[in-house]
Amino acid sequence: MKNIVVLVSGGGTNLQALIDAEKSGEIKGGKITCVISSNPNAYALTRAAENGIASRVIPRKEFADSKSYSMAILETLDEEKADLVILAGFMTILDECLTSKYAYKIINVHPALIPSFCGEGYYGLHVHEAALAYGVKVSGATIHFVNEKADAGAIILQGVVNVEKDDTPEILQRRIMENVEWKLLPKAASLFCQDKIEIIDEKAYVTE
Ligand code: GAR
Repeated sequence: MKNIVVLVSGGGTNLQALIDAEKSGEIKGGKITCVISSNPNAYALTRAAENGIASRVIPRKEFADSKSYSMAILETLDEEKADLVILAGFMTILDECLTSKYAYKIINVHPALIPSFCGEGYYGLHVHEAALAYGVKVSGATIHFVNEKADAGAIILQGVVNVEKDDTPEILQRRIMENVEWKLLPKAASLFCQDKIEIIDEKAYVTE
């Protein structure tokens, strides 16, 4: 059984989707063993507590830079014997000191079709504001491995929704979460835990 450590910063609906998927047996070969939050007030921490999952708070504000913060996260992941790390609405970019040690072991959910609307500054509602401002007709979410560049690691899964004329950023965000993020993130976790993701030339392929 692989130990899954989930990193969060906010509401934690993606964490909830992972918890629900684990409960219904959809995450084969893995178990959520710890939740780490960068934000002491994240509602995701309540979700962890309500489901009997251990949690730790490592506030981003207490660290001078990304490197020292990433070192603290790295120590915790090592202590927790993490096999898979999931960034589920985690709003901090991690330094290479962590991403290189956990290469192809950290997955992130990004709320757009990478390589569109991604990279530094594109997080949360900002992503959907940018997609609507551009006038794209489809958007979606991407599950990808995390490397040293923001939102640039190998893509594992992507899913698409239509953008409607009257969409607000909030409406589009909700449609993408419901139809893509909450389904594909648990699916990617399960594929990883069953060793069904293969890396060839820095690209990820699902082997089922
Ligand atoms: C989700 O839409 C996630 O894709 C996005 O933030 C939201 C978090 O919601 N993540 C990013 O923008 C990361 N760059 P949640 O806390 O309810 O899961």
